[in-house]
Amino acid sequence: MEKLEKLYEGKAKKLFATDDPEVLWVEYMNQATAGNGAKKAQIEGKGSLNNRITAVIFDLLKARGVDSHFVSSLSDTEQLVRKMDMFPLEIIMRNTAAGSFAKRYGVEEGTPLKQPILEFCVKDDALGDPFINNDGLIALGIVTEEELDEISRQARAVNEALLDIFSKIDVRLVDFKIEEGRTADGRILLADEITPDTCRLWDVKDGGETIEHLDKDLFRRDLGNIIPAYEQILERLEQLADAE
Ligand code: C5P
Repeated sequence: MEKLEKLYEGKAKKLFATDDPEVLWVEYMNQATAGNGAKKAQIEGKGSLNNRITAVIFDLLKARGVDSHFVSSLSDTEQLVRKMDMFPLEIIMRNTAAGSFAKRYGVEEGTPLKQPILEFCVKDDALGDPFINNDGLIALGIVTEEELDEISRQARAVNEALLDIFSKIDVRLVDFKIEEGRTADGRILLADEITPDTCRLWDVKDGGETIEHLDKDLFRRDLGNIIPAYEQILERLEQLADAE
């Protein structure tokens, strides 16, 4: 596979064309951002950890019947993925109240939710990725009703599979964000990444007394170095993958 011209550079990844029109070359960068890019840092080793974590997660998901755009790993920081026409959506699933949800509704962070919550935000940096409900998505023509049904079904399936994966490595999956797109042959599929940058992952100790953040909140909230936390997630996921 040949790496061709750069197509896109986001906050954490660069995308390149390849000699296969249906395959993209992804390079994970060390850049960390928070607050819609307001806070920025270069963190040595982050790109490699996220590239490896998302590859293991996509493999574990596949074993649970959840397909994704992931094709294969290329190196520590690079992977091949299927080219997708992306929906401009941040698809958020929550199992425990935290982050913007806890703040918006004045709920204490860590409060268990009686059922998972599926939320959508329009992916638009200039607008600060605003929350939108199902009617809004259809009224604005961002997705059709059929697309919304399929995206919602897949988001809930990803949540069920991820809950199984993370419970097996003793990590609480608090919430996460995914993105979805359409392949050239019209199939809606999970894309982008699933990493501690995009999930809240808690190591809950002392019967819930102590919460150790193993995710990007360490960076967002200045709670500590993300690298040892991301390394722990990778190590535990690799052990699970080896055992399965
Ligand atoms: O900030 P908020 O509570 O809405 O985030 C919910 C989940 O979505 C968190 O796991 C966070 O890491 C993820 N997220 C993301 N990218 C964004 C916004 C949220 O990965 N732009």
